[in-house]
Amino acid sequence: MKRVAILISGGGSNMVALVRSMTGDHPARPVLVASNDPDAGGLVRAREMGIETAAVDHRPFGTDRAGFEAALLEPLFAARPDIVCLAGFMRVLTPDFVRRFQGRMLNIHPSLLPKYPGLHTHQRAIDAGDAEAGCTVHEVTAELDAGPILGQARVPVRPGDTADDLAARVLKVEHQLYPAVLRRFADGERHPIYLD
Ligand code: GAR
Repeated sequence: MKRVAILISGGGSNMVALVRSMTGDHPARPVLVASNDPDAGGLVRAREMGIETAAVDHRPFGTDRAGFEAALLEPLFAARPDIVCLAGFMRVLTPDFVRRFQGRMLNIHPSLLPKYPGLHTHQRAIDAGDAEAGCTVHEVTAELDAGPILGQARVPVRPGDTADDLAARVLKVEHQLYPAVLRRFADGERHPIYLD
């Protein structure tokens, strides 16, 4: 059985989708949900589901990223994860941290990468007049939002969409894509899947 740690910063709806998927004959189980924000709503949801949680506030560390990551590594190492899933984790990780989980850390990003790495993805898709948007699950590498793609899901951009409208439509398919990719990944499958 593969052990999965999930890193979050906010509401954690992707984390909930991942946790709910890991039952029955699934090859993985959740062992830890950790956040850089002690007030992240997802921490409460994780505890309600009986998952161990950890909060490592990044703010006291200021610009000391290495210090923050060293503190985050303590509960992470203690949980002995085989796979680390970033699920709405909004801190950029240093190459040193990424290297420790090379080939076994996944991220979900709310755009059809390589389009729109970084922030404000939905507004950028609307401003560009794109007919389609979506989300990508990829392996995390030192370069931001640029690791090998493991899966994508597409949604239409509708006339008059606001960024919030589009974000809500994309989030729904994130909840399908991420569990589907994690299951395959835990089984050793690295070929990307595409959900329409
Ligand atoms: C999701 O849309 C996720 O793709 C995005 O944050 C949201 C988190 O929602 N992640 C990023 O933008 C990473 N750069 P959630 O907390 O409800 O899962």
